[in-house]
Amino acid sequence: MAEVELQKVTKMFGALQVIHGVDLTISSGEFVVFVGPSGSGKSTLLRMVSGLETVSDGDVLIDGEDMTFAEPSERGIAMVFQSYALYPHMNVYNNMAFNLRLSRYSKAEAKKLVHDAARILRIEDLLDRSPAELSGGQRQRVAIGRAIVRKPKVFLFDEPLSNLDAALRVQMRLEIERLHRELDATMIYVTHDQVEAMTMADRIVVLDKGSIQQVGTPMELYKRPKNLFVAGFIGSPKMNFFDAKVSSDGSENVHLVANSKTTFKLPNLRLNANDDLTVGVRPEEISVYTSIAEVPDTHIAMTARVDAVERLGNINYGYFNVGAEELVIAQIMGHTDLDHGQQIVFGVPKAELHVFDSAGQSLTAG
Ligand SMILES: Nc1ncnc2c1ncn2[C@@H]1O[C@H](COP(=O)(O)OP(=O)(O)OP(=O)(O)O)[C@@H](O)[C@H]1O
Ligand SMILES: [Mg+2]
Repeated sequence: MAEVELQKVTKMFGALQVIHGVDLTISSGEFVVFVGPSGSGKSTLLRMVSGLETVSDGDVLIDGEDMTFAEPSERGIAMVFQSYALYPHMNVYNNMAFNLRLSRYSKAEAKKLVHDAARILRIEDLLDRSPAELSGGQRQRVAIGRAIVRKPKVFLFDEPLSNLDAALRVQMRLEIERLHRELDATMIYVTHDQVEAMTMADRIVVLDKGSIQQVGTPMELYKRPKNLFVAGFIGSPKMNFFDAKVSSDGSENVHLVANSKTTFKLPNLRLNANDDLTVGVRPEEISVYTSIAEVPDTHIAMTARVDAVERLGNINYGYFNVGAEELVIAQIMGHTDLDHGQQIVFGVPKAELHVFDSAGQSLTAG
């Protein structure tokens, strides 16, 4: 267990700056997930923690010690990659014991460490097999086992589950969570999958274009995204966005650009006449009504045409056309009679709206 601290960490590849002064403290024993789109700098940041990538500027501290220029082997870390990188000619036991042989462990000590790790990962009966004789999930377990035996202070994972099918991904996700509880280790986990981020993380770090957009618990990011990027990235299906404008008459009435008949007030927000806003609403906050009169006063009412309905059994997704370029997605639980082409009214509770200024910064995140 160890704290990891990044201080103004920067990365340049030649003239190209890909990490822009990242400050971040990861507590001892914490499970932190770096999430962001492809190219956002997740792997680069992780590799700078590991020492596999040099730091252009700033400091990396592990367990309070300046490790900015330390070799990977001196940092007390172990890394697990998407490609399992197992030695094909060695059996599972030797793959797991390999790094121990290079350190000062006796044969008996190494054997105990490998067997302990194999028990934790439930691969004790696979120790004699070669990697070619293993499934993808089993290979990934061996790769994790190789990290565990070294008893690192910090585990670093870079998209370790991307090569697995959906069912196995869920299983391995639970395994890694269990591992975190059992080992009580600090873990940094990189993924572009926001579901993995939401389900596994103590705290999520959202990256975009080499900068941290927001750090927080999964529910903090879900409930109070600080900007449009985080609002759109966290949550599946994603948050609906509407262009909106504050009226010019000083009344602080807001109207939706695509649906100019819809006018409403947003008390408690400092709005200026003619401000351009983006209003966001999560799919599960939307309710469908039979008529405008039925929509409660606390809600904004909108009319739409049903474009499509996806029925997944317990949950349905309604795709509504409100005359804007993008369809509005509503989550409807249980049974629904909604059908393509139908004219409907839907309501959105004003208290659940996310409002962003023209720079994309939230006015409601607090
Ligand atoms: N060795 C390199 N030389 C030059 N540019 C690089 C190098 N490695 C990464 N980059 C650039 O740095 C940026 C961040 O890359 P990085 O691999 O950290 O992204 P990522 O968030 O891990 O993406 P992905 O989800 O695709 O793995 C990208 O624009 C990438 O093209
Ligand atoms: Mg990457």
